[in-house]
Amino acid sequence: MNIKTLLIEKANAAMQAAGIPEGTNPAVTQSTRPQFGDYQINGAMGAAKALKTNPREVAQKIIDNLDIDDVAAKTEIAGPGFINIHLKPEFLASSLESANQDAKLGVAEHATPHKVVVDYSSPNLAKEMHVGHLRSTIIGDAVVRALEFRGDNVIRQNHMGDWGTQFGMLIAHLEDLLEQGIDLEAVALADLESFYRDAKKRFDDEEGFADKARDYVVKLQGGDAHCEKLWQLFIDTSVKHSEEVYQKLNVTLGREDIKAESAYNARLNGVIELLKEKGIAVEDQGAQVVFLDELANKDGEPSVFIVQKSGGGFLYSTTDLAACDYRSNELDVDRILIFVDARQGLHFNQVEITARKAGLLKEKTSYEPSLFGTMMGDDGKPFKTRTGGTIKLSDLLDEAVGRASDKLAERASELSEEARAEIARKVGIGAVKYADLSKHRTSDYIFNWDTMLSFEGATAPYLQYAYTRVKSIFRKANVDSATLAGNIAIIEPQEKALALKLLQLEEVLDLMINEATPHVLCGYLYELASLYMSFYEACPILKDDVTEQARESRLMLCNLVAKTLHTGLDLLGIEVMEQM
Ligand code: ARG
Repeated sequence: MNIKTLLIEKANAAMQAAGIPEGTNPAVTQSTRPQFGDYQINGAMGAAKALKTNPREVAQKIIDNLDIDDVAAKTEIAGPGFINIHLKPEFLASSLESANQDAKLGVAEHATPHKVVVDYSSPNLAKEMHVGHLRSTIIGDAVVRALEFRGDNVIRQNHMGDWGTQFGMLIAHLEDLLEQGIDLEAVALADLESFYRDAKKRFDDEEGFADKARDYVVKLQGGDAHCEKLWQLFIDTSVKHSEEVYQKLNVTLGREDIKAESAYNARLNGVIELLKEKGIAVEDQGAQVVFLDELANKDGEPSVFIVQKSGGGFLYSTTDLAACDYRSNELDVDRILIFVDARQGLHFNQVEITARKAGLLKEKTSYEPSLFGTMMGDDGKPFKTRTGGTIKLSDLLDEAVGRASDKLAERASELSEEARAEIARKVGIGAVKYADLSKHRTSDYIFNWDTMLSFEGATAPYLQYAYTRVKSIFRKANVDSATLAGNIAIIEPQEKALALKLLQLEEVLDLMINEATPHVLCGYLYELASLYMSFYEACPILKDDVTEQARESRLMLCNLVAKTLHTGLDLLGIEVMEQM
């Protein structure tokens, strides 16, 4: 069910019948306050400007031609020419009844599914995943889930960094350790960070080591079997490590979704040849460079995009160009979404402009680097350990569960210890995810344990608790929610507000999918839970003097709230529990 789409169709037809030029935006929006109705058609103002007439007159003409009697109880003109639409309670009730019958709560699948590549998580395998990869991983995963829920064909791509020059030094170091008879599992990667540090130290200090490392990079990229075998050992172990993190995080990425930088190796030469042939890349101090006037600075100097190093080595940029070619020309996708830190914004602008010029990215494919801000500590600086080190994602998640468990211990509970541990896990991980997902993707935010673990305000624990409260009604009433029957009747204002919100799930998901912004779904679920609380206060359900009919209707509403919270949190990758 998408009320907005329905009203856009109706408004378009009315505008056409009223003689308003085709293509005029009907500007349908959800009303911000109940006194403005439930939806508004605001297109009269724009149309009046084009026609040079009075907007209120235009609004009246639109209303005269508007065929919405079966959905609207009242339509009125307000202010300069807004059209306020008050929906019929019967329409809301019957729409909810059909949503209740539907596994997807009335959210329709796209008639023509989009084919979408989503590039997310994408850690660098030389290092352990750190908090910077948290955002890419969970925002990307939420958007993927929502796209799939809407019926799109999603190709997950974990663009792991497994191919940079640092691998020369890593495999040279690994080779030595193995020769010393040290067990790979035990030493090398139990602590990727220190492994990397040790290798780097030797690279900087030890005679001959740097040369060996450089030699190994060339060999590796040239397909040398010995180097590749060492590299593969290293990759396997670090992939295993990231899989542990994905599991903790409840993220849908699997091994089959890895499409790492090395996967594009065979294409890199071809990309450079093409760029040279088309005169897009030129030689500059031995390197291959693309000068981009489109991104010139204020002095008119073009932006410099290096695509091949002077020694012939390929770069991050070369791989991303090859990835454009693969995704657009070979997979033939409609959209490419890439979840990366905002500091990579320029890089992706350069990639897109260059790729379009070279035909590596066709017009049909929309290229959407979806940038995110930085996670900050309480001091307003990028989040670090007390000693200034990077925080390992895995440690952070363990801490979240520990803190959730302490917090839950303050509350009375009849549940077994095992059940409580499971709840603490869901609450802790959910809290970290919701705190991140609920911020606008592009803004920086301050990471704060107390706020995210609070049972008040827009947090995962609040929503998870709200869900258990709704479910507890069914236990109290001794009713199986699956067998609920009867009709929904929307009478009280709190019922109407709740009904309307329940029917807006598809609209929210569309916004989230189009803009790659899970925070809109987070906000929606919080509003839904809050409206539910007001409904619960105002509309008794289990009291003796409530009629059978009212009880059934309200239980149906409760059931829809529970299902919507469950589905919405699922789409954010946050788990619920039946009891707390
Ligand atoms: N590995 C990169 C990093 O950690 C992110 C890669 C994003 N994807 C891409 N196609 N470049 O910053």
